[in-house]
Amino acid sequence: MEGKHLIVVANRLPITITKDASGEYHFKMSSGGLVSALSGFKKSLSFTWIGWPGFYIPPKDRAYVDKRLMDEYSCQAVYLDDDVAEGHYNGFSNSILWPLFHYHPGEMNFDEENWLMYRQANFRFAETVRSQITPGSMVWVQDYHLMLLPMILRGLVDGSSGGEYQKQELTKIAEGIEEEVNISSERIPDVKIGFFLHTPFPSSEIYRQVIFLYWILPVRREILLGILFCDLIGFHTYDYARHFLSSCTRILGLPTMPNGVEFEGRLAHVGTFPIGIEPSSFIKNLEKESVKSRIAQLEQRFNGVKVIVGVDRLDYIKGVPQKLHALELFLTQHPEWIGKVVLVQLAVPSRQDVEDYQNLRSTVNELVGRINGRFGTVEFMPIHFMHKSLAFDELCALYAISDVCLVTSTRDGMNLVSYEYIACQQARQGAMILSEFAGAAQSLNGSIVVNPWDPQQVADAIHEAVTMDTETRAENHRKLFKYVNKYSAAFWGTSFIKEMNKLKQDEVDKEGQ
Ligand code: G6P
Repeated sequence: MEGKHLIVVANRLPITITKDASGEYHFKMSSGGLVSALSGFKKSLSFTWIGWPGFYIPPKDRAYVDKRLMDEYSCQAVYLDDDVAEGHYNGFSNSILWPLFHYHPGEMNFDEENWLMYRQANFRFAETVRSQITPGSMVWVQDYHLMLLPMILRGLVDGSSGGEYQKQELTKIAEGIEEEVNISSERIPDVKIGFFLHTPFPSSEIYRQVIFLYWILPVRREILLGILFCDLIGFHTYDYARHFLSSCTRILGLPTMPNGVEFEGRLAHVGTFPIGIEPSSFIKNLEKESVKSRIAQLEQRFNGVKVIVGVDRLDYIKGVPQKLHALELFLTQHPEWIGKVVLVQLAVPSRQDVEDYQNLRSTVNELVGRINGRFGTVEFMPIHFMHKSLAFDELCALYAISDVCLVTSTRDGMNLVSYEYIACQQARQGAMILSEFAGAAQSLNGSIVVNPWDPQQVADAIHEAVTMDTETRAENHRKLFKYVNKYSAAFWGTSFIKEMNKLKQDEVDKEGQ
C-alpha cells in the first residue's frame, strides 16, 4: 500500500465485545470465515477495520470502547440503534439478500421497513468511514450487508463533483432516513473504493425474476447501483462475476466487458479474487503439546472407526439435511460399515433470530435422532452432533483426526472449512468430498466433487472416500495442500489491493499523457 491509508469496512468487527453484570467490557478476537480471512490478511498489511460491534452500546460508554478498539486492535465501531440493527442485519441482509444470493427464494419476505433500516445502517457506516478518510485513502467494503455504502461514500467524499445521476440516486436512497445526512460539498481527493462479495452472485435470471410474496425484488436496481460507484468490484469466482455483469446489462441496460461495467463515464472494474485461509495458523497450532495430546486422545477414542467430519454454521445453504440423508443411504446400502464410520457434525449456531434458521434446527435435530435411532447400538452412534462452536485447539484436533471431510452446501460463496481441513491433514492425508455448488469446488482440484441434491452420488462418494487407497489419498492431498498454502488469505487481500493500486497508477499515467 506504500504508506497509503487502507480502511476495511465489514458488517462485523473482528472482536467480540461483551459486557458483564458489573458493567465491565471484555474484548476477544472472533472467529469465522470472513473475520479469519481478513485477520490473516491483516498480518501482511495493516489497516483500520470499521464494523458493527454486534449489540447496542449506550453513548456514555462509547468513548471507552472506541479507545480500546483503536489502541489495541486498530478498529473503529459503527454504533447502530437496536431497531436499525435488527432491520438491517436480520431483516434485509439475512432475510432478503442472503437467500436471494444463495438461490433460496422460498425464504424471502420483502418489507419496506427493513429496506429503510438497511439504507439507514449503510448511511451510518458511511458517516463513520467518512470520519476516517484522508486524501489518498483506499476504502475496501466487504459483503452484502453494505452494498449501498460505495454509492453513499462516493457522495460524501466526492461532494458536489459527483454528477447529477449520482445525486438523484443518492437522494432516492436517502428518502425517509431520519437523521440528517451531511453530504458535504468538500471533495477529498484521490479516494479509491473497492467492494468484495463473500457470497455467490446469483444468475441474472434469478436476480431479476425472483418473487417475494408476489413482488419482484423492488430494489434490484439500487443494489446494483450501490456498488457500481466503486473502482473495483471483486468476486470469488468467474461465474459470480459473469452473473453480476449480466444483471447490469439486463436490469440497468449498461454496456459491460469481461473486466467491468461502463458507468457514468468511467469503468467500474470487475475481477475474480478467490479467498483463502492463513494455513500457517492451523499448522502451527497442531504443533502445540496440548493439541498433540488431544489428537492422541481422540485417535484412541475412534480407534478402528473412520471419522467423517462436518463443520458448518447451522445455515440452510450448508446442506446439512442433504448430508444426513446421504449418510443414511450409505449406511443402508453398506451395512458392513455400521459401527465402523462415524459422522462428527459440528453445527455452529447462527442467526437464531431468523425463523428459517429455527426451522432448520428442528429438521436437523429430527434427522439426527432418526438416523441414530435406526443405526445406533448400545456402544455406538453413527452421528455425533454438536450445536455449538468449538475452541480453536479442539477444532484443529478434530480436523486432524478425521479421515474424510464432507461439505454438501447447496450454495456457498467459497467454503473455507474445506481449506481448514486440508491445512490440518498433512499427517493423515484424508479425503475431501466437496459440493459442486461451493465456490471452492472450482479451485480444490483433488477433491471428490458431488451434487448434494443427489443422495446416491454423495453416498457413493462416502464409500469411495472411506475405501480410498493410501497412494490416491496422498496424491490428492499433495495437490490440495499446495493450493491452500499458496492461495492464502494474505494472497487474496494483497492481490485485491495491488489491483486497486494498479488502477490508481493507470489513472495517474493517463492524466500525465
Ligand atoms: C458469511 C458472510 C459473512 C458473515 C458470516 C457469519 O460468511 O459472508 O459476512 O460474517 O457468514 O455470519 P454472521 O451473520 O454471524 O456475521
